[in-house]
Amino acid sequence: MASKALEVVRTVYNATWGKYVFAGMYDRFLNKFEQAGLSEKRAEMLAPAHGRTLELGAGTGLNLPHYPPAVTEMVITEPYPPMVAKLARKVGELGLVQNVQLTVAPAEKVPFPDNSFDTVVAAMILCTVKDPTVVLAEIERVLKPGGQYLFLEHVRNPDPKIARKQDFIQPGWFLFGNECHCNRPTVETLQASGLKVEELKRDKIPAAAQWIEAMIIGRAVAVKPALATV
Ligand SMILES: C[S@@+](CC[C@H](N)C(=O)[O-])C[C@H]1O[C@@H](n2cnc3c(N)ncnc32)[C@H](O)[C@@H]1O
Repeated sequence: MASKALEVVRTVYNATWGKYVFAGMYDRFLNKFEQAGLSEKRAEMLAPAHGRTLELGAGTGLNLPHYPPAVTEMVITEPYPPMVAKLARKVGELGLVQNVQLTVAPAEKVPFPDNSFDTVVAAMILCTVKDPTVVLAEIERVLKPGGQYLFLEHVRNPDPKIARKQDFIQPGWFLFGNECHCNRPTVETLQASGLKVEELKRDKIPAAAQWIEAMIIGRAVAVKPALATV
């Protein structure tokens, strides 16, 4: 009975605020941070991107203007229809329709073969997906041997006092932020994954409140045996 009620609440939430209002307001929510310097940090994350590139959970496409010319082929994915609609519009506005393939898929399981991308990008999605470990394994699967994963994530604050505030705020933040977690230990999750973290810079989301500002930017590599050539 309780689980049925919870299911109803979840369905109503997803049909209203959780997905539609959140997607509709996303660029407006982010605008203050982007203007204060988050968009430069996106460009910094994306600077090493090259070759065949996949972006997961692309949201409304805020990374799209920052990809360098070394990216030769671009595939972007996003699971939620209201976000996909905004993403498709952004691809059109930026004149990228010929260059970008848009696929509706969750990061846990993308419809691409093993070893098929030089670069995988994800910004602020490990805070929202159900299990970041599953997503990191999927990233490793689709990366070519030596391929790179570029990330920008907001994370658990390294200051334990602020981290405790994040734990306190988390239930409300989860509802406000479309199932986002402000307190996830993403650095530790990344370090425990099969990917080799080569660069990890601790940073702050510009102009963000103390309990959401801790951010990391970096690059990890898929260490796998090189594919046999015939
Ligand atoms: C905080 S937003 C970040 C959007 C965008 N990456 C950006 O940098 O602005 C989180 C995004 O993750 C997406 N998302 C949620 N669950 C996901 C999943 N299982 N797989 C992939 N993306 C997911 C949401 O729809 C949303 O677009």
